[in-house]
Amino acid sequence: MIVVLISGRGSNMLALLDAGLPVSAVISNVPDAKGLDLAASKGVPTRVVDHKRFPTREAFDAALAAEIDAFRPRLVALAGFMRVLTPGFVARYDGRLMNIHPSLLPQFPGLHTHERALRAGAKEHGCTVHFVTAELDHGPIVIQARVPVRAGDTAETLAARVLRQEHVIYPRAVRWFLQDQLVIERGAVRVKGEEAGKDAQMVVAAD
Ligand code: GRF
Repeated sequence: MIVVLISGRGSNMLALLDAGLPVSAVISNVPDAKGLDLAASKGVPTRVVDHKRFPTREAFDAALAAEIDAFRPRLVALAGFMRVLTPGFVARYDGRLMNIHPSLLPQFPGLHTHERALRAGAKEHGCTVHFVTAELDHGPIVIQARVPVRAGDTAETLAARVLRQEHVIYPRAVRWFLQDQLVIERGAVRVKGEEAGKDAQMVVAAD
């Protein structure tokens, strides 16, 4: 049902597994990604497509797509997958490619989001699950979680607070997708059948 793409630790992947979501396979572009062992220990098939073995992004993305498609997933979930994908790859999975990003998009796309939020003096920070489009860390937002930035926060303490919420919102977003509750209308996502409507798409966490 779901193929999860990772590059490292795999805590978001684990959150999806622990939520009981039907993960068919975990694929990493990094051969020694910690998350691969974690997935294997849970009995989930793993694959490696090492980007270093391919001469171009296009060649890597084609090999990655072949591995993904062998599992015939409904959804491809990026979970700490640290490669920029080609427009062709993104188009192939249009409407069924999701990502989790550690900021309140559209703020702080790209890397080092926690450092940047602190440097900007942000009072709030958070994370976003969104559908992937060709533009990096853009695309229709499914759900966000907000956390406070506290006095004395370091990038590490803030990252840990955000990560706890990542593990809450990603399984929720994936479950909505699998239950056919997500509708993309004019670049925005509506969740069908949620009592709280728009409120369901913003989690406000005290910690
Ligand atoms: C998470 O913060 C995620 O939002 C970002 O990369 C990190 C991956 O962590 N895209 P993990 O591998 O899921 O533990």
